[in-house]
Order: sequence, then C-alpha cells, then structure tokens
Amino acid sequence: MSEQLLVVHNASKHFMGLKAVDDVSLTVAKGEIVSIIGPNGAGKTTFFNLLTGQLAPTAGEVRLRGQQINSLAPHQRARLGMGRTFQIVKPLIALSALENVLIGAFMRHPRLTDARDKAMDVLQTVGMAHHARRRAGDLTLSERRRLEVARALAMEPEIMLLDEVMAGLNQSEVGQSIELLKSLHATGLTFLIIEHNLKVVRAFSERVVVLDRGRLIAQGTADQILNSPEVVKAYLGDGHKVEELGTL
Ligand SMILES: Nc1ncnc2c1ncn2[C@@H]1O[C@H](COP(=O)(O)OP(=O)(O)OP(=O)(O)O)[C@@H](O)[C@H]1O
Ligand SMILES: [Mg+2]
Repeated sequence: MSEQLLVVHNASKHFMGLKAVDDVSLTVAKGEIVSIIGPNGAGKTTFFNLLTGQLAPTAGEVRLRGQQINSLAPHQRARLGMGRTFQIVKPLIALSALENVLIGAFMRHPRLTDARDKAMDVLQTVGMAHHARRRAGDLTLSERRRLEVARALAMEPEIMLLDEVMAGLNQSEVGQSIELLKSLHATGLTFLIIEHNLKVVRAFSERVVVLDRGRLIAQGTADQILNSPEVVKAYLGDGHKVEELGTL
C-alpha cells in the first residue's frame, strides 16, 4: 500500500455561524495528484488554510507523515514539507523575480550563494530564468503565478497545495501550466490542487474531491465525478445536464 502523506480527520472551520469547512476527512498518498473542486464559497481555500496553518481548525486533526501538526505555525509546516500557493498572488512587487524566490530558498539554504543557486535552478524549472532580474510588479499574471509556484518549490516541499494557479490564464498558458505540473509530478512531488476549470482537472487529476457548502459531497476519478448528478446539482442547481459542466 502506498504511504499516506497527508491525513485530515474530521476538519471543521466555523466563522461565527457559518460552517465554511464542515467535518471534512481526506487522505493524500505520496505521489498522488488530488484535485479539490466546488462552487464559489464552498470552503476550498479555507480548507487549505487549515492544512497549512493560516487558520486554526474549530475541530479536527491534520497529520503530515503521521505527525500531528495542528499546533504548528505555517513556517513550521513548510519546513516539514508542505508548500503552497495563494489564490491571490502577492509577490513582493518591488523585488526582482529572483529575490522573491530567494526568500523561499533561504529556508533550507542559509548561505546566500547556495540559496541563489537553488532559486535560479527553480526559476529555470518553471521557465522563468530569463525573467530573474525583472521586478515582480512588472510581470504578467501568468508569470506571477509561475513565480508563486517557484517560490513554493524553492522550499523543497514534499506536497504542494495549489490554489487556482490557472485562474485568469489563457488557453495556451493553461496548457503550459499543465505540462509544468506533470513534469513536477514526475519528479515525485505530491499535489493537492484547487481548480475551477473542470477540463484542467480532467487533464491531470487521478482523484477529484468535491466540496459544497463546507462538506465533502463526493470523491472519485475525474470521469466519475463529472458524471455525478450530485456534483452537477452543486455546481449548476437543479434542472441542468452533466454536459453543461464541460463548458465551465
Ligand atoms: N476569514 C473569514 N471570516 C469569515 N468568513 C470567511 C472567512 N474566510 C472565508 N469565509 C467564508 O467562508 C466560506 C468559504 O470561503 P472560501 O474562500 O474557503 O471558499 P472557496 O471555495 O475558496 O471559494 P472560491 O471558489 O470563491 O475561491 C465563504 O462563505 C466565505 O465568505
Ligand atoms: Mg478559494
């Protein structure tokens, strides 16, 4: 049996009366690519925040490689191998692309020369080496998203949590991003991915999990999920057909 890398037991997050995440359990094995889909406000980003420590859960437990990490701060979880990107990309705009990635690289490489080598290496991996000296604030959305991935990669994570890294990209940029993720996955990296574009999910996901109003309502292969009447209902409401999901 494959090793369980991330295990979430009955996680909940309530904001006053709102159950943003409601008793969600999920397991991710080493080497998997698991996608999380769900309508706006379903609780996807909040769920990520519970995993990475940006938010404390109201209830439940998160384990990484068997270790309970509930009380650890985000930087401690990063050190244990949890990398993430944010839905709203916030590079340090006055710094160069290289400097942004250096900040991540310093976590495991305290010496500047080592950190710089690592950062350049990662920029190369994501196809951004030629932009190393550009100000992050001058990069396009697509480039900023790659930079965000590079910054997380520079921390040498074992599992990467990506929050809608393809949102707002054009079709060819989406295609390039899928290729990048596939190549990173081939190096052994595990992925948990929030993704709105169901065609993208179908292109690379081994397992898809659906959140709706804080609850995990379905999980299975991309085809099983996209053909589930419950999922169609969650996305589109009553009276719609499965085929309409393909156009989202
Ligand atoms: N800090 C907060 N305080 C209060 N309510 C919050 C907070 N963060 C999120 N929420 C609410 O929790 C619910 C889930 O939000 P969340 O951002 O996790 O959804 P999402 O699935 O990521 O949505 P989207 O697809 O739009 O990114 C929403 O109703 C949101 O308004
Ligand atoms: Mg979100």
